[in-house]
Amino acid sequence: MNFENLQITIENGCGIITINRPKKLNALNIETIEELHDAFETLDANNAVKTIIITGSGEKAFVAGADISEFAHFSVDEGEDLARNGQEILFDFVENLSTPVIAAVNGFALGGGLELAMASHFRIASDNAKMGLPEVSLGVIPGYGGTQRLAQLVGKGRAMEMVMTAGMISAEEANNFGLVNHVTTQEELLPLALKIASKISRNSTVAISSAIKAINANYKDGVNGFETEISEFGNCFGTEDFKEGTTAFLEKRRADFPGK
Ligand code: COA
Repeated sequence: MNFENLQITIENGCGIITINRPKKLNALNIETIEELHDAFETLDANNAVKTIIITGSGEKAFVAGADISEFAHFSVDEGEDLARNGQEILFDFVENLSTPVIAAVNGFALGGGLELAMASHFRIASDNAKMGLPEVSLGVIPGYGGTQRLAQLVGKGRAMEMVMTAGMISAEEANNFGLVNHVTTQEELLPLALKIASKISRNSTVAISSAIKAINANYKDGVNGFETEISEFGNCFGTEDFKEGTTAFLEKRRADFPGK
């Protein structure tokens, strides 16, 4: 995988995607969004990859937002297309990926950067991270799912305040809000993400992908999450992973999941 704006490595079954535009604080231009789609799709299709970590290069930023220079002169229709296409190819795509995605937020996560972190399955942050949705300070609103996912993650009142003030919160505040699950030093961020990824990778990938579908179902209009859970639960009984997991338990050994 060769990308202009991304670096990809695979460590112990974990695909690490590093957004690499440090001079622009890793801002998401359209090319980077398309490359991210391809990178997530390729890693998701690789059976050797059990988890994915998304992070930013440099010590300053995860992602400082969508690339403002690209959309500053857009029309109403172009603005709508930008949001629709971005949501479809990256933000919704990541949220619904069957491989678990952990965002390792290593600095500024603003606008589209926080939206990318929020589309990931969960987030951890370094103690220098700063998070916010500053779009209204530019005369626009979050367009990559931010108004929906921030309210889901931190509650409506906090989301309203963060969006209206266009302010940034610290990693500690984000932790208190439940926006990130853990805060650590910048040096320990990737090791912690890899440690959590390794814990996840011991479990059934098929069951994890069912769990992602069931949890996400609660946040989709017109979908009954309990029904999705029942049907995904049933599907697990037809998998080789289920046979291996239950057999290993009864034989008092560690399961070796085939991932099927
Ligand atoms: N889009 C395009 N370029 C961006 C960017 C973005 N979202 N965020 C940062 N950059 C660029 C800057 O223009 C600058 O480029 P230059 O050196 O060619 O002038 C470079 O990244 C470094 O940013 P700079 O503003 O000089 O760093 P700073 O430390 O003074 O400030 C921020 C850091 C994050 C506070 C500031 O860059 C910022 O407010 N960025 C925009 C955040 C935003 O509104 N995001 C939502 C977009 S919808």
